[in-house]
Amino acid sequence: MRPPWTARVLTILPEAFPGPLGVSLIGRALEQGVWALQTIDIRDFTQDKHRSVDDTPAGGGPGMVMRADVLGAAIDEATAQSPDTPLIHLSPRGRPLTQARVRDLSTGPGVTLLCGRFEGVDQRVLDARDIEEISIGDFVLAGGEIAACALVEACVRLLPGVVGDAESLAQESFEQGLLEYPHYTRPREWEGRDIPDVLLSGDHGKIAEWRREMAERITRERRPDLWGKYSKK
Ligand SMILES: C[S@@+](CC[C@H](N)C(=O)[O-])C[C@H]1O[C@@H](n2cnc3c(N)ncnc32)[C@H](O)[C@@H]1O
Repeated sequence: MRPPWTARVLTILPEAFPGPLGVSLIGRALEQGVWALQTIDIRDFTQDKHRSVDDTPAGGGPGMVMRADVLGAAIDEATAQSPDTPLIHLSPRGRPLTQARVRDLSTGPGVTLLCGRFEGVDQRVLDARDIEEISIGDFVLAGGEIAACALVEACVRLLPGVVGDAESLAQESFEQGLLEYPHYTRPREWEGRDIPDVLLSGDHGKIAEWRREMAERITRERRPDLWGKYSKK
């Protein structure tokens, strides 16, 4: 039988997992074996009695850098277990993560993720092991663990059977190149605000048209970058 989609996470904080990946839809899918999670403790690959993973930066400057020799050994252990799995370092310097890349990763065997800490990792290990760098946004986290959780959660919810209604996935933000339209539910009136009449009209053609117009307006106002690509199609 084919092994489940597997997230292998290299980290100095294995206790951070599964964290939010252990609850709700994603946690249930983990329990049911729809996907698998393996953490690899980078400290297990250190050679000294203090189990040091970092050292001072060459050339001086603040902070510490994760050592290439320790990371190389940890990465080699992970890739020996699954040579065909994409190897990714979560990094603010990486290409921004997109829904298209998430979809692509979710159709493969899984991901091997390297979580950085401190000032980051020795460049030689990224070059030598040809590691892709992915960022989850233009801001700086203290470590790669939360970014790894975000990437894994985004992939796992696309695995067959994880989200009950597959249509809800097809209509989401980014799937058509647009952000999603606004949602409403009961009560019909709340603090003097009504649900837009069209949504209560029962006219599915008009509802679809209204949703498309709203999605276009929101995308145009908030994300000129997405709107530019969409409106050129
Ligand atoms: C304090 S950050 C290092 C920031 C680095 N010195 C820089 O200026 O680019 C430590 C680690 O957090 C993770 N990290 C921080 N921000 C991230 C982001 N936006 N996306 C993905 N990973 C991030 C990376 O693994 C990084 O090695």
